[in-house]
Amino acid sequence: MTSNPFDSTTPQIAASILSADFSKLASEIAEVDRGGADFLHLDVMDGHFVPNISFGPAVTAATRRSTKAFLDVHLMITEPLRYAPDFLKAGADGLTFHCEVVQDSLAAVRELRRLGCKHVGITLNPATPVEKIFPALDEVDHVLIMSVVPGFSGQKFMPEALPKAEIVKKRLRPNQRLEIDGGIHQETIARARAAGVDWFVVASAIFDQKDRAAAIAALRKRLSAK
Ligand code: DX5
Ligand code: ZN
Repeated sequence: MTSNPFDSTTPQIAASILSADFSKLASEIAEVDRGGADFLHLDVMDGHFVPNISFGPAVTAATRRSTKAFLDVHLMITEPLRYAPDFLKAGADGLTFHCEVVQDSLAAVRELRRLGCKHVGITLNPATPVEKIFPALDEVDHVLIMSVVPGFSGQKFMPEALPKAEIVKKRLRPNQRLEIDGGIHQETIARARAAGVDWFVVASAIFDQKDRAAAIAALRKRLSAK
């Protein structure tokens, strides 16, 4: 795995542990680590912002103890600023918050930095107009485009995410990254790449497969196919 995905400009595949078998998390992580995933994506859900509850700082810390990989923590919670210190203490490398839950997204980015977050991301639901993230765009490290309604893995890719990705990509500097999350598999990954996406979050198309290394290799092949 990559220790810092910002060091590379090549497309990166992030394995989302939401679809891992939590009864053997360390070996699941080791498998995708060895299998060629570039970093890990952690989906934190509070049962308020999304209709599902996943895990919090304790599992983030357990993940941290299991790997040196970059931990990209996606906070699907209504109070990201309140809980950010716990996730940073647990070993998160990057924190991504939803613009829907804050009054002032630029102020939220600045507050996350003040709390010690080195890599700050902003994201938006499929129903949220892309303009909503513009005020914070200059100061974020990455933008996450949701290509499903967040809450569960294994949902169908929403193609409406692609024009959004294109709009955001045009506004990003070369040192900022564009990430996509939801419904990414062998049939959708190249379409997202063509829209300018740098980082691809994948849960079920890796963890629901018997051979995770082969699944990651197949995704990567789609990225390089012309
Ligand atoms: C969706 C989560 C995603 C999810 C992706 O609520 O934010 O990260 O794990 O799952 P797949 O890749 O199965 O669509
Ligand atoms: Zn996610």
